[in-house]
Amino acid sequence: QTYHVAVVGATGAVGQQMVRLLEERQFPIHKLTLLASRRSAGKQVSFKGETITVKETTPEAFEGIDIALFSAGGSVSKQFAKEAVKRGALVIDNTNAFRMEPDVPLVVPEVNLEDIGKHQGIIANPNCSTIQMVVALKPIKDKYGLKRIIVSTYQAVSGAGNLALEELKEQSAKVLNGEAFTPEVLPVAKDKKKFQIAFNAIPQIDLFQENDYTLEEMKMVRETKKIMHDDTIEVAATCVRIPVFTGHSESIYVETEKEVNVEEVRQLLREAPGVIVEDNPAEQLYPLATRAAGRPEVFVGRIRRDLDRPNGLHLWVVSDNLLKGAAYNSIQIAEAYISKFQS
Ligand code: A2P
Repeated sequence: QTYHVAVVGATGAVGQQMVRLLEERQFPIHKLTLLASRRSAGKQVSFKGETITVKETTPEAFEGIDIALFSAGGSVSKQFAKEAVKRGALVIDNTNAFRMEPDVPLVVPEVNLEDIGKHQGIIANPNCSTIQMVVALKPIKDKYGLKRIIVSTYQAVSGAGNLALEELKEQSAKVLNGEAFTPEVLPVAKDKKKFQIAFNAIPQIDLFQENDYTLEEMKMVRETKKIMHDDTIEVAATCVRIPVFTGHSESIYVETEKEVNVEEVRQLLREAPGVIVEDNPAEQLYPLATRAAGRPEVFVGRIRRDLDRPNGLHLWVVSDNLLKGAAYNSIQIAEAYISKFQS
């Protein structure tokens, strides 16, 4: 069987990776529809040697679509995902629009693939920072139990889209050349103030919430509990944007129920699906964003027991935010859906 697939947000940082992965992984497609805003209508994108013309996203554009991959922002998903479902499509949504709705599975295939069976037309792809964290922590949770997670992120600008990528490139050149500039995109396009990202670290990703955490931080808190089916796990996050193009890094501290053994943790993670352990201090081996970029796996290293707590563990977790954090996870969901639930 082959499918008519649509990518919504096809011209964006994530959408472009989705199109590339659909081709590279030989996803069973007989037709690919590429949708974006009216601004991009008429743009040409090549797919499997053919040229596809990007169309404006409208309700009618979803006629005949079997699987729609959405990555055009939460408001576009809110406006069009249900229109797609009404017309018979399965929606895999990479935005924050529906993630916490009870009847929408929130899926990381290495962690809770079984949840996709409960969908009512929409399956949500978690936030990029959450995905790489839960892939690394699932084997630890299964073996030792998870009580508490404290995470600080070092997030790449591509997570904020193509305009943010351009902003980092241009600002970096201007700083080095001593030219003046006005920040326009980061930290958050829709917030009032903008700050320099080149040669800086900005402790704000998405909008502040009433509790003084940012929405990105609260996504990590809520989504982790939902994906792991455990509301008792305590999670606190600090999310920081840094001047890296691609690849989110995370410093994670976890407290487990049972005492941990570091060598056993390394072995568990070596055997875990989708994880690559890079952890050898003697050889200066640890995960790096520059190495993780372009790869689909989650890289884990710097695995250490806490100095004071026998059930405390520190990890450094890195992954390509556009791939495992977004496009690749969405396509894994689509592949699992067609293989497990269609045949
Ligand atoms: P466009 O390129 O036409 O603006 P990024 O994450 O890199 O910023 O990309 C966002 C994606 O979402 C782009 O493909 C963008 O299309 C798309 N998009 C933005 N606004 C809309 C909209 N109102 N309707 C449909 N697609 C949209």
